[in-house]
Amino acid sequence: MRNVLLVGSGAREVAIAKQIKKSSSPLSLFCVAPTTNPQIKILTTSYFEQSLNEIEVVVGVAKKLSIDLAIIGPEGPLEAGLVDALEKEGILCVGPRKNVARIETSKAFARNIIDLFDGEKNPERMEFSSLDGVKDFLKNLNEQYVIKYDGLMGGKGVKISGEHLHSIEESLSYAKHIVDGGGTFLIEEKFIGEEFSLMSFCDGTYCAHMPAVQDHKRAFEGDVGPNTGGMGTYSFADHSLPFLSKEDIMAAQKTNERVAAELYKKTGEKFRGVLYGGFMLTGDGVKVIEYNARFGDPEAMNVLSLLETDFMDICNAIVAGSLADLKIVFANKATVCKYVVPVGYPNNPSKDFEVVCNTKLDGLYLAAVQEKDGVIVATGSRTAAFVGVDPNIVIAERIAEKGATDIGGNLFHRKDIGTKDLIGRRKKHMKKVLG
Ligand code: AMP
Ligand code: GLY
Repeated sequence: MRNVLLVGSGAREVAIAKQIKKSSSPLSLFCVAPTTNPQIKILTTSYFEQSLNEIEVVVGVAKKLSIDLAIIGPEGPLEAGLVDALEKEGILCVGPRKNVARIETSKAFARNIIDLFDGEKNPERMEFSSLDGVKDFLKNLNEQYVIKYDGLMGGKGVKISGEHLHSIEESLSYAKHIVDGGGTFLIEEKFIGEEFSLMSFCDGTYCAHMPAVQDHKRAFEGDVGPNTGGMGTYSFADHSLPFLSKEDIMAAQKTNERVAAELYKKTGEKFRGVLYGGFMLTGDGVKVIEYNARFGDPEAMNVLSLLETDFMDICNAIVAGSLADLKIVFANKATVCKYVVPVGYPNNPSKDFEVVCNTKLDGLYLAAVQEKDGVIVATGSRTAAFVGVDPNIVIAERIAEKGATDIGGNLFHRKDIGTKDLIGRRKKHMKKVLG
């Protein structure tokens, strides 16, 4: 019997918890997270409501529970060095140490790692800690640029010319806002194309790739509005996307493999966990948008809904360095995931309202909620996701749409995600970009 600790309490962690409980390995599941997610709580032996910023306290909980293996969901604890601290106590971890997690926590570090093997995958870019030279660089990029706060912002620190930034003055003002807060930022060339996520289980030397997924970062239908943590995702039964070729998928897979290898070479530490490549297919090939050091959210709900291999076998192989020996199978079905979020999200979300839903539904994944006396209350970030799975994406979308609509509360969601119309527009856009 092993004691497994899940760190985190969002929809991604619900997906992980469901997989852990499906395992044929005898185990007890525990969870530590800042809020109580009732869907995780019901799967655990005990649940500890605890801020994840206090690493020593989390390690203390793990030691008291005689945890054998910890699985870390969100990026915050990775950046804070939770894995380093747990490993010091002899606790195995699925999730990278702080130093290797920089592939996500520092955008500049990630770009430099990619430069080591294929600079062509990077945009033209420059790092800044003051406003010196900013104006000239924006002009150099023909006013087609992206300004990225260099640190963890939950996907919300990125502003794009023509969408969020409409003039050089507005851009300088955003840059000044970052500098005034003591931050640094990157200005990048703006890529034009279609985005996709490709995640790989990684034991430091071997990458086992997952199906490709397309996320929707903009808050509103038609891809407008501010960037969010991700409003929803879809994947196809063939594990590719209709605007990608076999070569594009292979280019993304190879990039993840090279990133893992370069991380090991550069830091001497192995990346053990889920390596998430965020890519864009452009007229000039596959480019890197960002790297994450964990499962994507919502992407985790898509791929884990398809996973047929025992998840604990995968976790054990990640920590043992034996992933290459394990055959990992995903069902050949399409998935559509839609997030319902509070009205006003992401800039001014309503909160503290009751969320009405059937927590026992297979496709439901509660996220930013808190259980108070049996009542589920929204805490302001993405509230819940609903996933449809079917060989036919049209049906998967219908299931997700119905599930999202049925969740009660002061919420909204993007009805367009996974629809035939939206996917048709993606294909048309890509065709136009490719010329
Ligand atoms: P990130 O947090 O780096 O993933 O950025 C959030 C979103 O901003 C991405 O999903 C893209 O939609 C967009 N984005 C980031 N970098 C670029 C880029 N160089 N060119 C075009 N879009 C970008
Ligand atoms: N879906 C994007 C992310 O998890 O960062």
